[in-house]
Amino acid sequence: MTTDVQTFETKSLCPLDSREALIDEVWSGLCKRPRSLVPWMLYDCEGSRLFECITTLPEYYPTRTERDIVANHAGAILAASGSDYSRPLRLLELGAGTAAKTGILLEAATRSRSQVTYFPIDVSSDALAAACESIGCLLPDVQLEPVVANYVTDPPRLEPFQGTTLAMYIGSSIGNFSPEEARTILRNLRAELRRGDALLLGTDMVKDEATLVRAYDDGEGVTAAFNLNILHRLNRELGANFDTGCFRHRARWNAAESRIEMHLESACDQTVNIPAAQLTLQFAAFETIHTENSYKFTTETLGALLDDAGFAIEQTWTDPQQWYALTLAGLR
Ligand SMILES: C[S@@+](CC[C@H](N)C(=O)[O-])C[C@H]1O[C@@H](n2cnc3c(N)ncnc32)[C@H](O)[C@@H]1O
Repeated sequence: MTTDVQTFETKSLCPLDSREALIDEVWSGLCKRPRSLVPWMLYDCEGSRLFECITTLPEYYPTRTERDIVANHAGAILAASGSDYSRPLRLLELGAGTAAKTGILLEAATRSRSQVTYFPIDVSSDALAAACESIGCLLPDVQLEPVVANYVTDPPRLEPFQGTTLAMYIGSSIGNFSPEEARTILRNLRAELRRGDALLLGTDMVKDEATLVRAYDDGEGVTAAFNLNILHRLNRELGANFDTGCFRHRARWNAAESRIEMHLESACDQTVNIPAAQLTLQFAAFETIHTENSYKFTTETLGALLDDAGFAIEQTWTDPQQWYALTLAGLR
């Protein structure tokens, strides 16, 4: 790692002050029935570490499938997202995480473009620090402008730019949101883009139930640890006393909604205190906290979402089994 990158990280990647946001989410999600929490809460430092472990599991096909699509079509994706190679390229990414797959595209971009700027946004400062460290080392010519933010509550604003912007939203992250929320996120993004800019969207497609459920309930229990980390986080950051041994990870396919749901199920009747939120909660045995959705798409639902958000599909790349789609869309 170069000294420049180290200086840059310590100056720019301030963690979000999440305490007030966590308290708000706990009040709005845990006091209603059925109880729920929002997925950004899964990604503190430990959650981001566990997610990286998930991406290497044999059961978790989305990451390696998407990585292969990016690696096989990087040149074509870049060509389709702006054919004037003399113009600078700005790559904005929502929920960038450690940007492992994005590095492949950035590397290809630096071979054809004179100026490449990478503008990753993530709620996890730890994941962004890892992203900037690896890209800063491998691709020192890429200008890095990371932002630690919640892109739902604080939608990105783009400065005017004399070049082409490619907005990336990969990793199947759009699937964490209901169709209405997803449409709002994409519309907000669309409002920041100009003619000639493009969106690259990664979506996981509907497939057989057993494959889907296994991907969210692996044999080693890494996804279970990832899910339970949300309770550990409330213990660490809000002084809660969740006994994590008394909650079970559950992953189930909801066919009517076309989504995998992750829940934490209370193993017994129990009382939990969350002092920072001034809350005491009674959980009945088998009651669940719904922690994450992962919507799975068909060609039709994907097309309708993009159309509703003001995008027009230009090209789609997929894998031989058509398990995953990477879609390039322009402004409609
Ligand atoms: C499923 S991971 C995908 C990471 C990476 N894009 C990939 O393809 O491997 C979701 C990422 O989005 C981030 N994230 C989740 N909700 C977010 C939100 N509301 N605002 C900003 N980042 C968010 C998480 O911290 C995490 O890094």
